[in-house]
Amino acid sequence: MKISVIGTGYVGLVSGVCYADAGNEVVCVDKVQEKIEMLNSGVVPIYEPGLKELIDKNMELGRLKFTTGIEQSVKDSDIIIIAVGTPSLPDGRANLDFVKNVANEIGVSINGYKIIVTKSTVPVGTNEIVESIISAQTDVVFDVASVPEFLREGSAIQDTLNSNRVVIGTNSKYAADVLSELHKPFTRNILVTDIRSSEMIKYASNAFLATKISFINEIANICEKVGADVTQVALGMGYDHRIGNSFLNPGIGYGGSCFPKDTQALIQIAGQMNYDFKLLKSVVEVNNDQRFNVLTKLKLILNDLENKTVGIWGLAFKPNTDDVRDTPAYEIIKSILDCGGKVKAYDPLAIENFKKTFRLSHNIIYCDTAKDVALDSDALCILTEWEEFSLINPTTIQKWLKRPNLIDGRNIYNEVQLYGTDLTYYSVGR
Ligand code: UGA
Repeated sequence: MKISVIGTGYVGLVSGVCYADAGNEVVCVDKVQEKIEMLNSGVVPIYEPGLKELIDKNMELGRLKFTTGIEQSVKDSDIIIIAVGTPSLPDGRANLDFVKNVANEIGVSINGYKIIVTKSTVPVGTNEIVESIISAQTDVVFDVASVPEFLREGSAIQDTLNSNRVVIGTNSKYAADVLSELHKPFTRNILVTDIRSSEMIKYASNAFLATKISFINEIANICEKVGADVTQVALGMGYDHRIGNSFLNPGIGYGGSCFPKDTQALIQIAGQMNYDFKLLKSVVEVNNDQRFNVLTKLKLILNDLENKTVGIWGLAFKPNTDDVRDTPAYEIIKSILDCGGKVKAYDPLAIENFKKTFRLSHNIIYCDTAKDVALDSDALCILTEWEEFSLINPTTIQKWLKRPNLIDGRNIYNEVQLYGTDLTYYSVGR
């Protein structure tokens, strides 16, 4: 099949490459010339394991191209996939400007029957807006479909090539058949449904996962008070298939470009229909509070943070990515600096993005190694569970630190590893 994917962010780039790898002819389109030039010269603008190799392979095979020319790629394709961003507006609603602009450009360029797919995360009813924007420009017959994306950063390629499900929301039997055929190589579970349900499935899935995280974070907070171990509690809960054992890792709260944005958007979608989504509002509130538990624990250990040096391991919102969007590390570091503390920070991949994204006081120093951070710090906080950190022995950490204080915000160490150290060790819910 001939496919155009419009938008070369995480979703667009990864899905475009995976469609190409399945044998389709794919053109990835972006209006940012610089990005397209980078991609055409073999430079991948985001870090994602396995992505560069797959891009190189499919470019070499001639199945994958990059261009800024939306008009021509629309004309040349059977399927056009909209995968542009839907960032949050100040009130939490999704900003649909990019989606609407692309719909308009498709409407101007469309020259024959096409299937227009929205992969961007969009509020219920958006595909109907896309349809009406295109119809306003042309008499050409086309179908629209909502095919939401469920990939995770850090394992995006594997998630796409081996999807647990593909959801196709469309009113057209023909489009459903074509899109089912396209996605057959990626999954055994294809759900064909109506457009509005498909749009809702995406938000409901992310909101449910966020709810699981906030739930286990609250259980962890209670475990700390009653002397239970949240790891055992999560294990015991997870054996029940109705609960499942994934997404029950407590920590410093969820971050990233999806859960914070999508939970707020769903609260707004419900609110616009005069429905007060109380549960999801609490999930968001719990998540915001969870970040500050690190500061509370630091104050318990150090009393006053004035002129104390706090080491930070991990800036990315999760491991295996350089993405710092809505990373809990930012708020935590800011709160330490606001209390008069000094910060030394290290992340294997995300330092440059963190520096570019956040403006912080001059009291933060970025280090080249995890060791440099720990040396002479009054306390060390682990904020991202990079494997590199879990391979460092706590005894070694103790030797490096000025004062033996360790706050493990991601529970990367266990009792056995800590045995024999004199570290004052705080984790989450244990
Ligand atoms: C998330 C969803 O998992 C994907 O299914 C979805 O497609 C994607 O959003 C999206 O909407 O595009 P992602 O944001 O890449 O994917 O990352 P996750 O692995 O879900 O982690 C999100 C946050 O939750 C991270 O900050 C992580 O540290 C935190 N988390 C996750 C926990 O604190 N505990 C857990 O048990 C799991």
